[in-house]
Amino acid sequence: MSVRIAPSILSADFARLADDVACIEAGGADWVHVDVMDGRFVPNLTFGTKVIETLRRLTALPLDVHLMVVEPERYFDDFAAAGASSLTIHVEAAPHLNRQIARIRELGCLAGAAVNPATSLEAVRESAADLDLLLVMTVNPGFGGQEFIPSTVDKVRRARALLDAARSSAVLEVDGGINRDTIADAWRAGADTFVAGHGVFGAGDPRQEISVLRRLCMEHV
Ligand code: DX5
Ligand code: ZN
Repeated sequence: MSVRIAPSILSADFARLADDVACIEAGGADWVHVDVMDGRFVPNLTFGTKVIETLRRLTALPLDVHLMVVEPERYFDDFAAAGASSLTIHVEAAPHLNRQIARIRELGCLAGAAVNPATSLEAVRESAADLDLLLVMTVNPGFGGQEFIPSTVDKVRRARALLDAARSSAVLEVDGGINRDTIADAWRAGADTFVAGHGVFGAGDPRQEISVLRRLCMEHV
């Protein structure tokens, strides 16, 4: 299994967005994680179509768009047209998960489902075979720089078992508080894709930090 590092642009310096994107690209980032928040699903507001379009012009890396919004389907068309590579919606905001996943795929994006720390994995079990990506939140979404919730490691292990049981090849992503201290635990539990905001952009050398994080996984096979 290979390690995918997805720095979260939420922690970038927006006055130097082009430089920060170039920096993580040069550091070997696999994906760029884009946190869309609507001030309703989570108590914070971030960005939308224009920033996705801008990022699309700045990099050829896949744009991993995490929709922390209510009624996510309202944004699918615009975000796909803006250049999103994957659209991940929260099961807590998706009463018709199968229909929403199908629509995301129709638009040519990878379809992801995210679960908050307090949400049972049972919410995705029936759809597991249809998912391209399962995102297990390792903090309560809304802000960068929060502390990793240790009990989510066991949840990642159960998520891996759930995907395997469904014979799903979906990406298993973790998001929140991923840094040098936490990444190896999540990797050993079965995650393959690691969002890191503060862990990368808060490091002395963000470019170097991507390799450090990747190496910490590879050392723990
Ligand atoms: C949390 C967001 C995360 C956030 C991660 O609500 O979904 O993607 O940017 O930031 P860190 O890695 O700093 O916890
Ligand atoms: Zn995120």
